[in-house]
Amino acid sequence: MKPKTQIDIKQLVRKNILTMKPYSSARDEFKGEAEVFLDANENPYNSAFNRYPDPLQWEVKTKLAKLKGIDPTQIFLGNGSDEAIDVLIRAFCEPNRDAILITEPTYGMYAVCADVNAVTIQKVLLTADYDLDLESLFKQVNDQTKIIFLCSPNNPTANLLTREKIKTVLAQFNGLVVIDEAYIDFTSSESFAAELSNYENLVILQTFSKAWGLAGLRLGMCFASPAIIGILNKVKYPYNINLATQAHALEALKDVQKKDAMVAEITSERDALIEALPSVKMVQKVYPSDANFILIKVDDANGTYQKLTDQKIIVRNRSSVALCLNCLRITVGTPEENKRLLQALKDLSK
Ligand SMILES: Cc1ncc(COP(=O)(O)O)c(C=O)c1O
Repeated sequence: MKPKTQIDIKQLVRKNILTMKPYSSARDEFKGEAEVFLDANENPYNSAFNRYPDPLQWEVKTKLAKLKGIDPTQIFLGNGSDEAIDVLIRAFCEPNRDAILITEPTYGMYAVCADVNAVTIQKVLLTADYDLDLESLFKQVNDQTKIIFLCSPNNPTANLLTREKIKTVLAQFNGLVVIDEAYIDFTSSESFAAELSNYENLVILQTFSKAWGLAGLRLGMCFASPAIIGILNKVKYPYNINLATQAHALEALKDVQKKDAMVAEITSERDALIEALPSVKMVQKVYPSDANFILIKVDDANGTYQKLTDQKIIVRNRSSVALCLNCLRITVGTPEENKRLLQALKDLSK
């Protein structure tokens, strides 16, 4: 079946990236079975880490592809999904000419990576209930716009963006649409991964940092067409995912149930917090959550943040962020941690 949205990747990618010759590592140039490896200037003496890792992480990708119902050639792995964000911008946006479009409020790294790369940031406010405002979005889009970043469930607001609205953006925008699904495991909503064959401009980000509980490993996933993944592979550092991370990810992927059990515990704790928080006097509003965190509006976010910090409880003060005046973002912790937070908020309300 023909995809609903087709793009000419050669038109979209930066010309120098299209024509450049990528670095070819020793591990790229020899792939067969051998006994004596004298090709990569490694140290021959025995250690768990004396050899360079697989530059394209095929073993991890093969396992991951099965789990996600896609092909290994549709996967890019990054040093966190933050690396994928940076590589996408570097590969597709010409510095001092092109733009990315972000919706506000949202995850901060899209703008930071654009700034680092001298790429213009086009900003569109979400609606009052934190959904996409399609009219304003399409008004902002122009010839400069190469990538639209949509975060769903969104950070810091915790809600999913309306699926049909995301599909409209995918269908009508001729550049890349990146859907950041860092928190997708905490919702019953389907990932957009199943839509890859429908939209050639679709790029999906997921991560091992949240549901898998492996933020310290730094492993992010990016799913897209093999053509887009090929471009990202051209730009990334040759050995961007180290051996320890690849080995640890393979172990984690053997036990998907462990991840599912953690997600079930966290979502049940989240729902309990959402039920309990409205009875706390200082809490004006508890926003719905499809993530592992909750956004709340309180009487005085700055004061509450400081007083919680004094009690060694750290939440994220989002009060200075667009549409989030007096809002705190609270990550769901263990039952004991959540109890302590709730008690502290109750005590501060007295
Ligand atoms: C929406 C979103 N995307 C990406 C990331 C970063 O993920 P990673 O740890 O894989 O770099 C975060 C981290 O908080 C996030 O909230």
